[in-house]
Amino acid sequence: MRGLRLGVLVSGSGSNLQSIIDAVESGKLKSEIVCVISNKEQAYGLERARKHNLPALFINPKEENYDAKLLNTLKAYEVDLVVLAGYLKIIDKELVETFKGRIINIHPSLLPKYGGKGYYGIHVHAAVIAAGEKESGATVHHVDIGIDTGDTILQKKLEVYTDDTPESLQKRILEEIEHKILVEAIAHLEGRA
Ligand code: GRF
Repeated sequence: MRGLRLGVLVSGSGSNLQSIIDAVESGKLKSEIVCVISNKEQAYGLERARKHNLPALFINPKEENYDAKLLNTLKAYEVDLVVLAGYLKIIDKELVETFKGRIINIHPSLLPKYGGKGYYGIHVHAAVIAAGEKESGATVHHVDIGIDTGDTILQKKLEVYTDDTPESLQKRILEEIEHKILVEAIAHLEGRA
């Protein structure tokens, strides 16, 4: 089984990125992270990458040719699989087409529920609680040109407690589900490479 060359895109804390770094370092994944890219200069995910001596690149979204730069960077690093790990920017059509079937995203809900425009970060969990849902979870899916609409690779559930807040639910979903299924999904794709 050969590993994949992973390009990980982050916009924030990068705890999902950390789960991939840990899985690569422990040998749980055969793949390697060849670059970490962010549209936010201050994203802690970039700092995590630097701490592990991984190329950490900021691409300024204010630049007109942002999408072309992103695509060229992924090509330059010979990325096999693009992993959106808390990347809060829509991926442009050309990138989706160039990396067709080779881009995955993690979303903190049971898609197709609570996906699409406006459903990101804490807003997802607030909506789940406001609706009185009894269960929630996370989904790893292929990326197509829609928002949170590609085919599901893995999805896992947990119970929503009556005293959950958006923050407590977010934390449990991240720690108990996201960090595991993201690594499992990459391992699954390694198996098919
Ligand atoms: C996660 O909940 C992920 O599902 C969503 O954004 C969040 C990123 O968290 N797309 P982190 O930056 O990996 O800690």
